[in-house]
Amino acid sequence: MKVLICSSREAAIDRAAGMVADYVAAHPRAVLGLATGGTMLPLYQRLVDRHGKGHLSFAEVTTFNLDEYVGIAPEHPCSYHSYMRDALFSHIDIDEAHTHLPLGNADCVHQEARSYETRINTAGGISLQLLGIGQNGHIGFNEPTSSLGSRTRVKTLTETTRSANRRYFPADEDTPRYAITMGIGTILDAQNCLLLATGPEKAQAVADMIEGPLSAICPASALQLHPSTTVILDEASSANLRLTDYYHHVHPNGEETRFD
Ligand code: F6R
Repeated sequence: MKVLICSSREAAIDRAAGMVADYVAAHPRAVLGLATGGTMLPLYQRLVDRHGKGHLSFAEVTTFNLDEYVGIAPEHPCSYHSYMRDALFSHIDIDEAHTHLPLGNADCVHQEARSYETRINTAGGISLQLLGIGQNGHIGFNEPTSSLGSRTRVKTLTETTRSANRRYFPADEDTPRYAITMGIGTILDAQNCLLLATGPEKAQAVADMIEGPLSAICPASALQLHPSTTVILDEASSANLRLTDYYHHVHPNGEETRFD
C-alpha cells in the first residue's frame, strides 16, 4: 500500500484529483469505479474545473459507482444517481450511457446486484477504483464484518453510517436502511485503487486500514491484499498511524519517488 501524507486537506484533494486526471489522460478509455460522500465532492469539482479549462475529456470513459440506496429512485434528490449527476456527470463530456450505478428501486434488488457484476465484467473490469472510507472502516457500503470475498449485493447499513448520512436527507424523511454495494471482492478485482481520506474523524479507521490486522471488523483493511493501492491522507486523518515517520521518509510531502 502506498501511503501519501499531504500537508493539508486541500493538498490531499489536489493530489487525488491530479492522479485521477493523469490516469484518464493516459487511459482515455478507462473504466473508473466511483465513490460518493462528502470527501469526493471537492475532488469531483477539481475534475470539472480541469474539464472546463479544456484539459480533460471523459468522452470515452466508462464509470461504475460503488453503491446506491435500496428503495430510492434515480430521480430522488438524495439518490447517488442525483449526487453523481450534480457533482460530475452533468458538467463533463461523459456519455451518459457509459455511466452505471445500481438501480436502488429495481423490482428485484438481488437480481440487480448480480447483473451489476456482469456489467462490470462485460466492460472489462474496473481499471481505477476511487474510494472513501467510513468512520467505521467501511469501503463502499461494506460494513464491518462484511465478507472480505463479498460480491455486489444488498447490505444493511449500520446506525453509524445512517446517522452520518442523515445530513443529506430532509428532516421528515427516514434515511435508507439498505444499500446495493459492490462487494469487497469486487473492489479487490480493480486493477488500481485510490483511497482518499481527510479529517480527524477518519484517523482511527485509516490506522486500522493501513496498520491494523487484516480483519472483517475493518473492511478497508482488505486493501492490504491489493497489489496496487494508493492512500492519500491529510495530516489529520493520518494522526493515529504508528509509522508516520516511515511514510514521510518514503514519500516526502506525499510525493512519489523514483521507484514508484
Ligand atoms: C459511498 C462510499 C462510502 C463513502 C464513505 C465516506 O459511495 O463509497 O464508503 O466513501 O462513507 O463518506 P464521506 O466522504 O461522506 O465521509
